Amino acid sequence: MKVPKFDGAVPQHVAIVMDGNGRWANARGLTRVEGHRAGEAALMDVIEGAIQAGVKYLTVFAFSTENWKRSPDEVKFLMNYNREVLRRRRDELDGWNVRIKWAGRRPKLWPTVIDELLIAEKQTAKNKGLTFTMCVNYGSRIEIVDAINQIVEDSKSGKLNGALTEKKMQKYLLTKDLPDVDLFIRSSGETRISNFLLWQSAYAEFVFLDVLWPDFSRKDLWAAIQQYSKRNRRFGGAVDKPKKAKGN
Ligand code: IPE
Ligand code: IPE
Ligand code: MG
Repeated sequence: MKVPKFDGAVPQHVAIVMDGNGRWANARGLTRVEGHRAGEAALMDVIEGAIQAGVKYLTVFAFSTENWKRSPDEVKFLMNYNREVLRRRRDELDGWNVRIKWAGRRPKLWPTVIDELLIAEKQTAKNKGLTFTMCVNYGSRIEIVDAINQIVEDSKSGKLNGALTEKKMQKYLLTKDLPDVDLFIRSSGETRISNFLLWQSAYAEFVFLDVLWPDFSRKDLWAAIQQYSKRNRRFGGAVDKPKKAKGN
């Protein structure tokens, strides 16, 4: 499939809240976990589409620190499923020159999932193509709180000197090696952030699409990139360009 010509710049870093699996499944008379299963193909298609479009960083929300509230069966499925997807797709992604990274917290996360994430990171560490970050057991508020606690400790021990800056703060986040998010996408029609990349998305452009994640494809990614490419990002700046009055 050919990438369309975008009107403006392609985002360097795209973040996606992959949402709507449960609704997709329930609408078909299936259980929620069938929706998660159907999401794998969508993810692979989007990764390929991101590479084609020239995106350098793709970061996806796979499991939040709030998702532990779900039924034990669904949580168990999601843990196993994340591990299986990584195992199944690792070589394929490696072949696409993708560098796989994990962003998330260790507490509560199944050790077997952590192991699989670290294996994938190690295998693909030298790849120079797309950096694909999987956020598993990730929550942005606790990420910021963890960072602050570490900063306090490092200040006491003398590891961190001088006043804290935005740049230094960024190095304490789970996404420390990633640039700021340019384009933040959420599927499923929900228009909220749900605790994803709060610090990192301070100046991101948001695109909410009315497509449930299992139905999502690279075409939807490209449609979001096209919207992004037409936006005027000002970062607080301004340009004075008064319209010429008629008759002048
Ligand atoms: C997103 O789909 C996947 C995860 C949160 C793991 P959901 O499971 O949230 O699906 P909906 O939003 O209930 O439809
Ligand atoms: C956000 O979706 C988390 C992931 C996609 C992994 P949720 O479905 O958990 O978010 P809420 O509960 O609708 O805000
Ligand atoms: Mg949801």
